[in-house]
Amino acid sequence: ARVRHYKFDVEYFFKSVDCVDRLVMGINGQFPGPTIRAEVGDTIHVAVTNKLSTEGTAIHWHGVRQYGTPWADGTVYVTQCPINPGETFHYKFKLDKAGTFYYHGHNALQITGGLYGSIIVDLPKGEKEPFEYDDEINLLLSDWWHKSIQEQEVGLTAHIENFRWVWEAQSILINGRGQFGCSLGANFINHTLPVCQFKGDEDCAPYILSVLPNKTYRVRITSATSLLSLNLAISDHKMVVVESDGHYVEPFTVDKIDIYSGESYSVLLTTDQNPNQNYWISVGHRDDNVSTTPALTLLNYNKIPTLDLPSFPPPITPPWFDVEERKIFSRKVLALKGVPQPPKYSHRWINLIGMQDIIDGYLKWSMNGIILELPTTPYLGSMKFNIKNAFDWQDPPENYPEDYDIYNPTTYHNSTVSNMVYKFEMNQVVDVILQNCNSYALNSTGFHPWHLHGHDFWVLAYGDGKFKDGDEKLFNLENPPLKNSVVVFPYSWTAIRFRADNPGVWLFHCHMEPHFHTGMGVVFAEGVQYVNGIPEQALACGLTAEMLMNKGNSQ
Ligand code: C2O
Repeated sequence: ARVRHYKFDVEYFFKSVDCVDRLVMGINGQFPGPTIRAEVGDTIHVAVTNKLSTEGTAIHWHGVRQYGTPWADGTVYVTQCPINPGETFHYKFKLDKAGTFYYHGHNALQITGGLYGSIIVDLPKGEKEPFEYDDEINLLLSDWWHKSIQEQEVGLTAHIENFRWVWEAQSILINGRGQFGCSLGANFINHTLPVCQFKGDEDCAPYILSVLPNKTYRVRITSATSLLSLNLAISDHKMVVVESDGHYVEPFTVDKIDIYSGESYSVLLTTDQNPNQNYWISVGHRDDNVSTTPALTLLNYNKIPTLDLPSFPPPITPPWFDVEERKIFSRKVLALKGVPQPPKYSHRWINLIGMQDIIDGYLKWSMNGIILELPTTPYLGSMKFNIKNAFDWQDPPENYPEDYDIYNPTTYHNSTVSNMVYKFEMNQVVDVILQNCNSYALNSTGFHPWHLHGHDFWVLAYGDGKFKDGDEKLFNLENPPLKNSVVVFPYSWTAIRFRADNPGVWLFHCHMEPHFHTGMGVVFAEGVQYVNGIPEQALACGLTAEMLMNKGNSQ
């Protein structure tokens, strides 16, 4: 294992990522940020300098467990203070497993702004994956808005009279490239748009997948979207899914994959088709009432010009309402033999329902009636040093009213803003049942991809309707997949199990940035007394800053 050093300068710059010149939040002048590629067991040092000049930042290493380094998790006001403009923060952590991950900003709407990049972790030399491939391709998928993140943030958090939803993404990006105002597939799917014309060296020219015939490629696919649920398909080619969120899955073959914000997959692609034509790669979204054009690019076998457009239409994203098909895909993701299995029993059971309501004039999300608003002192410091008035130390509710009607707008109007924390005993086995219900408007709901920091969890079941006594019989305790992000389907529930074995304070939240930003998350903590070595800089704000200053005075 080695130590690898990186220097990340986070800054805004102009770039024509989808053929429209806009500000993007990037790193070292690159968008997406540089890829971190390393081996399991390596120690990563990243010196992050905030050159944004008008806002604080922090970078979260999504999927890295941060065992023993909870202060390096990069979550503003949970594990650290924001890195102020001009400051440099030194992250230092170990990579705990091989697989496909990414990093992203974790303050305000900085994913929407473009602050993300890939993390690829290899097995140590000499160790073999349980599948074979000749080469690999990395696809980092995201969504892109023309409206600034400041404008979006103000709109989302304004009083209901001035509330503005973020609406539709202008583009879907493949490795940071998209096409707005034209489409490569215009002749087939968007007759109103012109066909894009590229020489190939433009910032917004599509990222072409160049392959050789009769090879097997491992295609790593990560969704760094801030909102959209994506679906990826390649014409005339099948994909064999082999990895998700850094864990091997029992291989299964599909012709399209659903991928939600925060998830990653590896698929094997065999280039066994006619090499004398190009094939579409289509990344469409799976959202309701959204007309964002699918991202298109080409699979090229190196025999004909890369930008020759196929004479057949690109694969079309299945419609939003085809929930059943999406459940079928998610339920196919099962652990490969050898992946750790879950404990047979849990010690703690939390039912969490996500409700949308207008509370005191603001449109918010609450979990069991608690609208999460982070304190201004990072929990990791206030819990470690027992700072009583830094947040509300009461225990948040572990349930919601038994007669709750999930199919109608909520009648529970008592949600309150809070920053309470679910506290676990070390090594407690915890089950969480995430329940989806009707949103604020009649007959409306959505998909919520949830991400847990600091742990992987087993996905025990995706169930239909409202979770009821006896539904635990549906739990898969034989080969549930280990993941760090999972979707909750409309009017359905998702059950997860994890072991609270990582001392620290950890967010568990909907990974759609506008949802998390308006309250859709909870905070978990365990063993904070065992946490050592929190750098002072991580705590140099709020009440922990005061504590540090007093300590200085008394010396
Ligand atoms: Cu990838 Cu808290 O998020």
